[in-house]
Amino acid sequence: MLRTHTCGELNIKHLGETVTLCGWVQKSRDLGGTTFIDIRDRYGLTQLVFNTDTDAALRETSRGLGREFVIRVTGKVLERSNKNPKMSTGEIEIAVSGIEILNEAKLPPFLIEDETDGGEELRAKYRYLDLRRNPIRNNLVLRHKMSQEVRKYLDGHGFIEVETPVLIKSTPEGARDFVVPSRMNPGEFYALPQSPQTFKQLLMVSGFDRYFQLVKCFRDEDLRADRQPEFTQIDCEMSFITQEDVLNIFEGLTRHLFKAVKGIDIGIVPRMDYSDAMRLYGSDKPDIRFGMQFVELNDVVKGKGFSIFDNAELVVGINAKGCANYTRKQIDELTEWLKRPQIGVTGMIYCRYNTEGDLKSSVDKFYSEDELTNWAAAFEAEPGDLMLVLAGKTEKVRKQLNELRLEMGNRLGLRDKNTFAPLWVLDFPLLEWDEESGRYHAMHHPFTSPKPEDINMLDTAPGEVRANAYDLVINGTEIGGGSIRIHDRALQSLMFKHLGFSPEEAQKQFGFLLDAFEYGAPPHGGLAFGLDRLVSIFAGLDSIRDVIAFPKNNSGRDVMIDTPSTISEAQMNELKIKTTV
Ligand code: AMO
Repeated sequence: MLRTHTCGELNIKHLGETVTLCGWVQKSRDLGGTTFIDIRDRYGLTQLVFNTDTDAALRETSRGLGREFVIRVTGKVLERSNKNPKMSTGEIEIAVSGIEILNEAKLPPFLIEDETDGGEELRAKYRYLDLRRNPIRNNLVLRHKMSQEVRKYLDGHGFIEVETPVLIKSTPEGARDFVVPSRMNPGEFYALPQSPQTFKQLLMVSGFDRYFQLVKCFRDEDLRADRQPEFTQIDCEMSFITQEDVLNIFEGLTRHLFKAVKGIDIGIVPRMDYSDAMRLYGSDKPDIRFGMQFVELNDVVKGKGFSIFDNAELVVGINAKGCANYTRKQIDELTEWLKRPQIGVTGMIYCRYNTEGDLKSSVDKFYSEDELTNWAAAFEAEPGDLMLVLAGKTEKVRKQLNELRLEMGNRLGLRDKNTFAPLWVLDFPLLEWDEESGRYHAMHHPFTSPKPEDINMLDTAPGEVRANAYDLVINGTEIGGGSIRIHDRALQSLMFKHLGFSPEEAQKQFGFLLDAFEYGAPPHGGLAFGLDRLVSIFAGLDSIRDVIAFPKNNSGRDVMIDTPSTISEAQMNELKIKTTV
């Protein structure tokens, strides 16, 4: 080894020892006769002191050191006169007697400090330098720790890690596939997996019983803070189980991770039906760190001559506790925020429950104070509260009120990053109507089992059929989802029919799975957690980008290696790809 210790290791116990350290120059201070240099590696920082008065060669070398030079130093561990209790090595310094420059460094394009001056684009281009910074490195260490704990827990529960192929045939899960041309089969393409869904089901047919994999998945979809084109799933499948078993095992995994990694006991994870989540929060991934549940007002407000409420399918609101002192200007600003095209409300009604006890609404013309008392009762409002009300088509207005609720949660400081509120959302609908294609799509994926008691509604009321499908939500983010699967060829064929596949299409695309179901497929089910999202929640980050070593930007580009990029004419020819541009 080139070193005897790391830069985060030495303390008062090592006084008097002669040590050798390797690392990067963090910063240097030249105080005339003495030069101080902080040397950094993955483990920490150590202060080096060069007595440049007595050693001309040392003086020469130490003065030539720039930021991020890679150096190797030998010296004696001394007690510092000016101790730094915030650093693990803050009680000592190294009196350097020998130094070797292992490599020089150009001046980095941004500060390699916890708080950097580098913009996002620049840091992405020099990601290897950004990864030297503590906050980013710590995220990757956290990710490593969580991956290890996942493996430990699942191995302890009899799960076997099996790798499934990356060059596959497309499995429709809602997003577009990334495809790879096949040189040996001109005109034909592989698809990169959106998830290993069909393979893990085949492993159940093979009798593996409990499978897991920390696996890269690929989806060509619009990117957001919590979406990357390639991301990692903790993917699992189990045989001979009920939904309850799957929930228990993965609630156990979630509990284990919180305990082992953050020392937090999350207790029992509450459960909520999809229909309640939509009714009370307007979202299938409610953030239950705070209450502010929706209050439906149709019975209270209709029939008083206010046409907007009278004509609305749903009048629904939230109680912003303690916000009665919001000024007209603040309320107008909130209304304008809601009117942005992303949310698209046409207007917001409010009712103040003033601290003096009187009620004042923006629709006083239609509602007497007596009537407003009924509003307050519905909201369980108290003096000091502000009731915010929207009206419209049920689905749309719930979505809009969800945005308002989350915004008020932010404004009132109710969404603390160090508070964790996991939630199971159960009984998702099997199908959802897609306006664009004018047909039903599988809400989770086509392999999800309908609830047996709802199967008879497949023909009459497909939108009402519920599935044995579940999501784990933490702090309003969908962390994972799964379902009990169909394991019967006839039912799977029926599902394909309802999803608009002809028998020939179903056979062409999924014949391998339908065939497998005829060779003794056990009842099975499972789920997948998004590892990137889970780590970012643990790290208290809004974006998953900084828990991924080399992420893509919002346009799906890696600006460091500059990809996607063109390929040569020769490669195109070899792959028999013709371009029209
Ligand atoms: P689903 O599509 O719900 O289920 O995906 C499971 C979890 O993966 C994460 N995730 C993503 N993370 C980052 N970037 C993305 N683009 C992205 N897309 C999804 C989410 C999500 O909850 N095969 C099924 C699972 C099953 O039924 O067992 C599946 O893939 O956290």
